[in-house]
Parts: sequence; structure tokens; C-alpha cells
Amino acid sequence: MQIKPSIRSNIFTNSHPFGCRQNVLNQINEAKAFEPFKGPKNVLIIGGSSGYGLSSRIALTYACKSNTINVSYESAPKGNRPGSAGWWNNIYFQSLTKDTNLIHKDFVGDAFSLEMKQEIVSYVKNTFGKLDLVIYSLAAGARRDETTGEAVRSQIKTIGEDALGKTIDLADLTIKDLLVTQASEQDIKDTVFVMGGSDWKAWIDILDQNNLLNEGFKTISYTYIGGPTTERIYRGGTLGKAKADLENQAALMNAHLSKTLKGEALISSSKAVVTKASVFIPQMPHYVSCLFEVMMKHGVHETIIEHKYRLFKDMVYGNKRIIDEKNRIRLDHLEMDPKIQEETIHLMTSLPDDEFFKLKGTKQFLKEVFQIHGFDYDSIDYETEIDIEALSELKPE
Ligand code: NAI
Repeated sequence: MQIKPSIRSNIFTNSHPFGCRQNVLNQINEAKAFEPFKGPKNVLIIGGSSGYGLSSRIALTYACKSNTINVSYESAPKGNRPGSAGWWNNIYFQSLTKDTNLIHKDFVGDAFSLEMKQEIVSYVKNTFGKLDLVIYSLAAGARRDETTGEAVRSQIKTIGEDALGKTIDLADLTIKDLLVTQASEQDIKDTVFVMGGSDWKAWIDILDQNNLLNEGFKTISYTYIGGPTTERIYRGGTLGKAKADLENQAALMNAHLSKTLKGEALISSSKAVVTKASVFIPQMPHYVSCLFEVMMKHGVHETIIEHKYRLFKDMVYGNKRIIDEKNRIRLDHLEMDPKIQEETIHLMTSLPDDEFFKLKGTKQFLKEVFQIHGFDYDSIDYETEIDIEALSELKPE
């Protein structure tokens, strides 16, 4: 069968296996050119199949020769359904990194569950012995509450008043207005439950209780702060409450880990990039396109893997850490530069829609959206018939 993009409500319902391989390969080629640095030996990444988790995994594999374990929730190919992009990213990460002679292990399943945590505990005990770094990079729409058995859903809503935002409709490439409605107290609680810090803490607790954390152990998670144009929908809304909870959790864990292991729990505010999760958030596609335009114009645009490499090299394991008053690592300082914000806001508010689609930044944004799902690579012939059944034989390792 031929695989062409299928998009519903800005979510891709399919992916192209060979394009996903190309995405992983391109990041690996970028990472091979990075200067090595002394970093963690054994790393667990929760949410390492795509986006920031995948880039962190690739950057550390090549720059620090790290062994990695990845826990992700992805769908395998079934019948004539080609599986999710993250599924193929895992498969091709494994095959493309064979020559590193490092240990790379994938677990596909629900990171929120106790079963998955126990499985990782026993794997770490039997193979790595101890961990040096845990990266918590989950972006999830739902979490099963183990006490009730019910699925709890996170909500992208405002707090206070409804807000009118804009988004790019990826299926027909138009700009659409989008009303983001007010959250109830329950919506806020649910979003904090799914995207806040409690599961991150549960991971660190169970690993700690089983004595699997090395002296000097570090754990890090990724937050987003953003500027005025995303404030009402993101930071001032339900997702912002969840991120505040994640940040509070980091402070509490940091106090404990620094005493017991001379370790650290860190939060990095990372820049807005193109991932499965960010494309779905109202206002982000419009904002990120204009931001890319401005950052490229000023020569401060970074690829996703350059961004994560700089995080670990300079700010987690190096001595160029930029922190704010809440002790958050501000890797996003280039995005948040007042001049960059001012010009981005100007573009967002002044350009007619047809001009917006001509921007280099918008073209880059759209290309990346398709490429993270394996589409729009010049090197791939999308007319080629793909034998999904044969590819289904490839399993996570
Ligand atoms: P993504 O959608 O590319 O990756 C999410 C990862 O979580 C995937 O590996 C997925 O398999 C995994 N996952 C989701 N539910 C799971 C479950 N139940 N069990 C196991 N794995 C599960 O998302 P992205 O954007 O890389 O997000 C990662 C983190 O980075 C999030 O906390 C996000 O808020 C943060 N962040 C993202 C920014 C962006 O612009 N994309 C900016 C700043 C922070």
C-alpha cells in the first residue's frame, strides 16, 4: 500500500515508516557532529519515542555514549494501519544505533502504571545496576487512575474567561479562529493529575526505594513558560497549572535528592518546537511559525536536537546554567528575548493570512509537522508500495 498523510483535528492518524527512519537518521547525523562531553552513563527516558524525549535520547547516545532505556506509549502496525510515528522512531533508533555498542532498550506500554514501573525496576536491577539520569518527557492526554480504574483526561482550557485563539488547520492549510473555553475546578484537577508532577515523583520514589539511583543522580523534566500570546491559553490555563505542579515537585524532589545522593531534580523551560503534542495546542502553530521566522532572521534558531544537546552540555552537566528566581533552567532564553517576542507578536498581529503562509518560518513549521510523522522528505518516494505486514515483523528491542 501507499501511505499518504491522514489528519483529523490536527492529529495525524498515520505515519510513514521510512520517513520516520529518515527523521531519526537526520537527528543522528546532527548528533554525530556534536562535541562529546562527560555526561550520564545510564539513562532512563520516560516518553523517549518522539519530540523532546527522542532528541534527548539521541543527543546523549552520541555526545556522552549513554546507555538508554525508553518507555513510550505507541501503536504497532495492524492490518493496513501503519502504526504511530513513535513506534517507527523506536524501531529505527534501535537499528540505526547498533554500531554504538551501547545498551538501548525499549518498553512500549503505559508509563503511568505500577506494572510498567516494576518492569523497569527489575530491568535496571538486572542490567544497568543503577541509573545516573531520568528524563521525564511525557505529553499525555489521559492517565488511568489506579485507585478507581477510571481514565482521567487532561483539558486544554483557560482559567477565568474564554479566550479566542488562532490555529493552523493542517488538513486544509488555513488559519482558523478557535474558542478556548473556561475550565471547571474538576478540569484543572484532572489536567494536573495527568500532566503535573505526581507520576514523575512516583517514578523517582520507586527507583530510589529499590536503591537504583547512583550517587550524583539527576532527574529532569520539561516545562513551558511562553510569552504574552500564549499566556491565556497555555501558562495561565489548565496546562500552566499542571506545569506549576511539575515545577513544585521538582523543588521537593531536589531537596531530598541533594541530601541523600548529592543529586538534583531539575526543570528546564524549553523552547516551543514542533512535536505531536505542541501542534495540537491552540495558538501554538501560529505562534511557532512566526517565532521560527523571527529566530531564523536573527540567526538564533535551533533544531530540536541542538536545543537538547545545549541543555545537557551547558546547563545540566556544564557550568553555563541559566536559572530564574524559581530555580528553573531557562534554556528558552533565546525565545524569550524581549526583541524576539516583540517581533513575533508584531508578525502574529499584523500579517494577513495569505502573507503568513509565505513566511519562511511558516514553511519550516509545516515541513516539520509533516516530517515528524514521516512525510514530506525529498529523499523518499511516497508512491512506493509499502508492505506493512512485512514491516510488522520488526518489534521493539
Ligand atoms: P511528544 O508528543 O512528542 O512526546 C510525548 C512522549 O510521551 C511520547 O514518547 C509518547 O509515547 C509518550 N507518552 C504519552 N503517554 C504515555 C504513556 N501513558 N505511557 C508512556 N509514554 C507515554 O511531546 P513533546 O512535545 O516532546 O513533550 C514532552 C514534554 O516536553 C512535555 O512535558 C511537554 O510539555 C514539554 N515541552 C514541550 C514543548 C514543545 O514545544 N513541544 C515546549 C516545552 C516543553
